[in-house]
Amino acid sequence: MTYDIIKDIVGDFMMERILGIDLGTSNVSIYQKKKGKILQEPCVVAVDKSSKEILAYGKDAKRMYGKTPEKIELIHPMKEGVIADFEVTDQLIQYFFKKTKIHTGFMKPKIIMSIPLDVTKAEKSAFKEAGERMGSREVILVDGIKAAALGSGMDINLPKASMIIDMGYGKTDMAVLSLGEIIKGVSIPIAGEKIDSKLVSYLKQKYKLLIGEKTAEEVKIEATSLVGKKKEVEVRGRDLITNLPHTITIDSADITEAIQEEIYTLIDEIKNLLEDIHPEMAADIAKEGIILTGGSSSLTGLDELISYELGIPVHKIKDSESSTIEGIGIMLENIKSLENNSH
Ligand SMILES: Nc1ncnc2c1ncn2[C@@H]1O[C@H](COP(=O)(O)OP(=O)(O)OP(=O)(O)O)[C@@H](O)[C@H]1O
Ligand SMILES: [Mg+2]
Repeated sequence: MTYDIIKDIVGDFMMERILGIDLGTSNVSIYQKKKGKILQEPCVVAVDKSSKEILAYGKDAKRMYGKTPEKIELIHPMKEGVIADFEVTDQLIQYFFKKTKIHTGFMKPKIIMSIPLDVTKAEKSAFKEAGERMGSREVILVDGIKAAALGSGMDINLPKASMIIDMGYGKTDMAVLSLGEIIKGVSIPIAGEKIDSKLVSYLKQKYKLLIGEKTAEEVKIEATSLVGKKKEVEVRGRDLITNLPHTITIDSADITEAIQEEIYTLIDEIKNLLEDIHPEMAADIAKEGIILTGGSSSLTGLDELISYELGIPVHKIKDSESSTIEGIGIMLENIKSLENNSH
């Protein structure tokens, strides 16, 4: 009897020692079994340029950047969805564990991590090893695109095709799913980061104004309007001719011009994927539409533009930066779903 009670308590405690992690290029999210999402912060550290010492992590790092950019360098340890700087990734996760009071010494957690489409064997091992260094007793890798689909409310096990596009910061993953499997998927390096950098070069060329990546992101979020009503926005930067601070006003048409090549490449990739699948599956998708998620799906008008160009409904997900972690959460709360989806 006592043994059973102890077993129940310990069992329950162990159950909660399951963590889900979405190591995104822009944001890291952590999910704890039975608690839900316990953290979502920028995947970035601020480093002192001369001493190379880490000065701040996550949102504190992002905030610090704007203040003293000449002394501080921001390091994004993930590039295009994969781990580019192992040491910084480890330190960042250890910091987030400490912040969320996750202890990995005694009773090691099981860690479920999502991986992007098209990862190489070496990149996949890097995720597994990172999970081990986080202090995990077992690392389970799951497809990020399946997690994003589940987290967007899709029932991926139905015997009909559905399509999801996850447009994040470093890459856009898109896939056709049916009966819980990825029928066809593709990953392209066109997402938030590329869009910000296109905006930086456009303003440099057209207005001789130099801006940083943070300003570019703010301008993009505030004034993008790919379809319909235009918005105006003030942009502060450095005039390349006088070398002095300068403010200009641009509108949505400028942003569209700056990023349209990327947007149309993305649309072409969606078309190619649709042309590459069985006509019955294409018919399912034409009827049900495409799910659009990931932070960059919030680019104003993107859903309407894709829908217009393809003649297919596009459904934008509300809390789009959280689809992947919510989907990992669904998998880890439901052991059957986890077994069906792990690598
Ligand atoms: N309202 C918005 N309009 C346009 N872009 C936005 C908006 N909100 C967030 N973003 C962009 O979303 C991106 C982050 O998305 P997300 O958190 O899905 O990326 P990630 O999962 O970390 O990256 P990846 O999946 O590529 O590894 C950033 O580029 C950010 O600028
Ligand atoms: Mg992502």
